[in-house]
Amino acid sequence: MTGISSEDNATAPPARGQPSVTQIRHAEYADAAAVGSLLAIALAPKYRPTLGRRAAEALTRIIGHELRTPSHGYWVAERDATVIGAVHLATAEDAPPSGVAHRLAQVIGWTRALWALTALSILAHGPLDHDEAYVGELAVASNVRRQGVGVMLMRHLDAQAEARGKSRITLWVTDDNDAARALYTGLGFTEHAGRRWHLGRLIFGSRGAILMEKQVSAPAAP
Ligand SMILES: CC(C)(COP(=O)(O)OP(=O)(O)OC[C@H]1O[C@@H](n2cnc3c(N)ncnc32)[C@H](O)[C@@H]1OP(=O)(O)O)[C@@H](O)C(=O)NCCC(=O)NCCS
Repeated sequence: MTGISSEDNATAPPARGQPSVTQIRHAEYADAAAVGSLLAIALAPKYRPTLGRRAAEALTRIIGHELRTPSHGYWVAERDATVIGAVHLATAEDAPPSGVAHRLAQVIGWTRALWALTALSILAHGPLDHDEAYVGELAVASNVRRQGVGVMLMRHLDAQAEARGKSRITLWVTDDNDAARALYTGLGFTEHAGRRWHLGRLIFGSRGAILMEKQVSAPAAP
């Protein structure tokens, strides 16, 4: 089972003489707690106001269920047997998530679960087009940022999107997230639509979000 990087923990040093290697691999069920904790911490502006102080546990429950499906869209970056990054790619063919409210309620109670799902729906992308692959989550542990892990995870998605017959990758980023915007722009994403929200500002602290998009292959001939 993999460990979890936190905002405070340093990555374990490699054995003497062994350089650390970062590997991107499809997530396994045993990664659920590591990925849940990583997302809860790295995406605290999204998950702390909605899922509350048990956000990591709640996300672990939801992600653990998804990771039981062989075709799930989670990939992790691993270094020295520790999960240091995670990304999720969704396509229109994915089975719609089921039982999310129930699983959340088991951890944070029904009132909080219903509030969380309502608030998070402000950030939802909507139905995916047949040629579209959508990045729902991206997070890198704070102690290993600016080492190219985010780029590795995102580049991995190009091949995954193409393998699924998709010609473009889309994502939403909040307009105050300069690090992520710089990362995506550097990878060839361009900014498309924008969203402004009032309730979202109260909940998530940002004024709005930007839809970014990148072509990964020529569109299939009609
Ligand atoms: C955004 C995030 C995933 C970047 O991960 P990372 O592994 O540090 O990114 P990389 O090292 O691959 O950086 C690639 C490039 O992105 C840009 N970038 C990354 N972090 C940046 C920062 N803090 N400020 C400015 N530019 C930044 C730079 O252009 C960087 O290249 P450089 O280091 O050669 O200058 C990471 O900061 C994170 O997890 N943030 C919190 C969660 C989040 O915001 N997720 C995205 C939601 S849409």
